[in-house]
Amino acid sequence: MIETFSLSKVYDKGVTALSGITTTINDRLTAIIGRNGAGKTTFSRIVSTQLEPTSGSAIIDGLDILRDARRIRKRIVSIPQEASPISVLTPLEQVKLYLVGRGLSIKEAHAETIRVLDAMNMRDFKNSPADTLSGGMKRKIFVCMAIASNADIVFLDEPTTGLDPVSRMEVWSSLGELSGEVILTTHYMEEAQELADRVILFEKGRIIEDGTVENLLSKFRGKVRVECPQLDDYDYRIGNRVIKYVNRKDANEYIGLGCKVKPITLDDIFLSHGVQLEY
Ligand SMILES: Nc1ncnc2c1ncn2[C@@H]1O[C@H](COP(=O)(O)OP(=O)(O)OP(=O)(O)O)[C@@H](O)[C@H]1O
Ligand SMILES: [Mg+2]
Repeated sequence: MIETFSLSKVYDKGVTALSGITTTINDRLTAIIGRNGAGKTTFSRIVSTQLEPTSGSAIIDGLDILRDARRIRKRIVSIPQEASPISVLTPLEQVKLYLVGRGLSIKEAHAETIRVLDAMNMRDFKNSPADTLSGGMKRKIFVCMAIASNADIVFLDEPTTGLDPVSRMEVWSSLGELSGEVILTTHYMEEAQELADRVILFEKGRIIEDGTVENLLSKFRGKVRVECPQLDDYDYRIGNRVIKYVNRKDANEYIGLGCKVKPITLDDIFLSHGVQLEY
């Protein structure tokens, strides 16, 4: 369980990355979403004891991030957004070394590494040095480490960015196997929608939406999104497209106007806060 109390972070150059975050995270899988620069990584780094807050505090499973950081680190695993593997080590060596570092015997570490690499379809690459692997496979090494760690709390900062659709689904199903609590930062709305028990939307260092996917989408109940080339009366404009939310029963008349009809997704939660989508 993660409890934060007025957590704030102002970086050296005066950038406010977090503004007084007070929340409790206790679900099996919590997705943190928000546009670039919203404060997601800063939040994850502070609660995983890699960065000190400017003010406020956080408690992880009863331990204080400032006073008990060493004890917390034994119980969590955090895979950073920019993580890249040691180029000369193979996935087998990398994951095994990591597990030995966490206290497993070499024999246990070897068996667990083989199990996870197999489960993540990395068997054919397990003896290839990381610098000969593709970007997506390098990311998967870290996901394998997280899965193999059996930590109580797992922080994954954009673990599937750059992965092909098959690899992403492998990661998704392996996340389901994690025994601990998972905090997942993602830009893929379908990932949050598929996996998360709870979704937290960050914007400008604050939490602006927080709830189950169903809660967040409830304001759009009964509606669909229509994307049109032209329309005088619309809700949002992105580039040269306009978007309007209409009742499902009225969708046909918009199809007649050349609009595309789409189901409501978490993207629409972004739009409802004036957050621009990247297409
Ligand atoms: N080390 C740093 N020094 C100064 N400013 C920083 C530093 N790290 C992050 N920031 C700033 O803090 C804000 C929040 O950044 P953060 O990395 O937490 O965002 P994010 O939500 O993870 O974004 P992304 O989706 O791009 O990963 C941004 O304005 C960023 O420029
Ligand atoms: Mg980030």
